[in-house]
Formats: sequence, C-alpha cells, structure tokens
Amino acid sequence: ANAVSVRSEMSYVMIKPDGVQRGLVGDIISRFERKGFQLKGLKLYQTPQAVAEEHYKDLKEKPFYPALVGYICSGPVVCMVWEGKGVVASARKLIGATNPLASEPGTIRGDFAIEVGRNVIHGSDSPENGERETAIWFGSEGLVEWTPTMTPWLK
Ligand code: TYD
Repeated sequence: ANAVSVRSEMSYVMIKPDGVQRGLVGDIISRFERKGFQLKGLKLYQTPQAVAEEHYKDLKEKPFYPALVGYICSGPVVCMVWEGKGVVASARKLIGATNPLASEPGTIRGDFAIEVGRNVIHGSDSPENGERETAIWFGSEGLVEWTPTMTPWLK
C-alpha cells in the first residue's frame, strides 16, 4: 500500500517519417495517453544523419543500416518520452513486433504497417536504452518535469 513513487522508467518513442506523413500522429499519441503513461517530452524534428546513426549504432553492421538511417532522416519525426511503471515493455506491446506482418492486430504496427523498413514507430527495447535514447534526442534540458494537478479544467 505504498503509492509513493520511485522515479519510474522512461521510454523513448518516435513516430517515424511514414507515420507523420500518413497522418497517424494523433492516433498514436492517443494510445499512449489512454494507457496512462505520462508525456515528458515531445517535438517534431528533422533528424540530422549523425543523430540517426548514434541512435541505431548497435545496428551499424547490419545490411539494412544505411537504408534505415536514410529512412529516419527522410522527413520529420515526432520524438516523445513517455514515463511510467513498466513503460518500456508496455510500449513495445502497444507498438507490436518489428515485422509488421507478424504484429498482432490492435498494435500500432499491426494496425498500420506492412513493411519492416516502414514500420511507423520506434520504442526503446530496455530501460537503459530508454535513458540513452532520451539523452540523444532530448539532451539534458529537453524534458519537462510536471505533476498532474486536481484542477477542474472544464469547470
Ligand atoms: P530492431 O531494433 O531489431 O527492431 P525494433 O525497432 O522493433 O526495436 O531494428 C530497428 C529497426 O530496423 C526496425 O524497426 C526496422 C529496421 N529493420 C529493417 O529495416 N530490416 C530488418 O530486417 C530489421 C530486423 C530491422
């Protein structure tokens, strides 16, 4: 019965250029809001190549790496940081499997994508990468610290 919050986990979530251009931004943000996670960072961003390369550096030796970096830099992305208990694993469930044809219906990739190289969205694969990727995309001052209030907004 201890509801005092330990500082909880962060996931770096990014709507890729296809998701932005296809008008999926609102739907995707809505899914994370309705789940109950807290938005800590949000921006529309034209990614410099060096940032995409740093983000995906673990995949540098993969044959699809150059195309992946080119895709991420091909148009603006929406960068987000979502915080909450278990957010990393939960975001991965909301997002679905890497290959959209294997993603369950009801997941973001399952609902909206076909090609692995155009799979609409990224989500960190571990809490450590959540921290690492947040630092890459938002730096040390890009997040907003805030606590939801009990203000009756609509009164
Ligand atoms: P990965 O980190 O394995 O998947 P995820 O995004 O689900 O964490 O791969 C990163 C991205 O690389 C993936 O979202 C799409 C792209 N990719 C390809 O283009 N071809 C591939 O065969 C794989 C495995 C990934």
